[in-house]
Amino acid sequence: MKNIVLCGFMGCGKSTVGRLVAARSGRRFVDMDTYIETEAGRTISTIFAEDGEAAFRRMEHEACVALGEKTGLVIATGGGAVLREDNTAALKKNGTVVWLNIDPDTVLTRLAGDTTRPLLQRDDKDAAVRMLLSDRNPLYARAADAVIEADGDADAVAKAVLAVCDDD
Ligand code: S3P
Repeated sequence: MKNIVLCGFMGCGKSTVGRLVAARSGRRFVDMDTYIETEAGRTISTIFAEDGEAAFRRMEHEACVALGEKTGLVIATGGGAVLREDNTAALKKNGTVVWLNIDPDTVLTRLAGDTTRPLLQRDDKDAAVRMLLSDRNPLYARAADAVIEADGDADAVAKAVLAVCDDD
């Protein structure tokens, strides 16, 4: 069974939707950030703080290559994972990439009190989200085999993901 790879911005619901899609399609759910944390023995925040973003991106690349070799998974990627084309290529080897597209206002509401995303721990969070999202949307679009509007509830989004991956 092919992998279903969920990509999109922080807060788009990749993990919540991914668990539902996995349970309903008989695949195993893997959260890429959790996978990296387990491999590194440190949280994402600690990796960023101690080693910097570039080191995190190298670990993320290794995770894309390792998970891309497997089959029968639903993979919730980190929000930056598919921005490198070689990451996307690795994930597409055995998988369909689905972009969960969201509005900046949805991100800001969902992540209002979040302290776990190093890129959003700033006073100008509103501006940072809007800028990052507009820079990244073309890159998610380039990576994706399908796009689902994901501002609504997770159950409906999961159904839409399953519908586009029906033949996989
Ligand atoms: C990141 C998104 C995070 C995590 C890291 C960097 C990004 O994952 O990988 O903080 O660059 O967008 P989530 O999208 O699961 O929050």
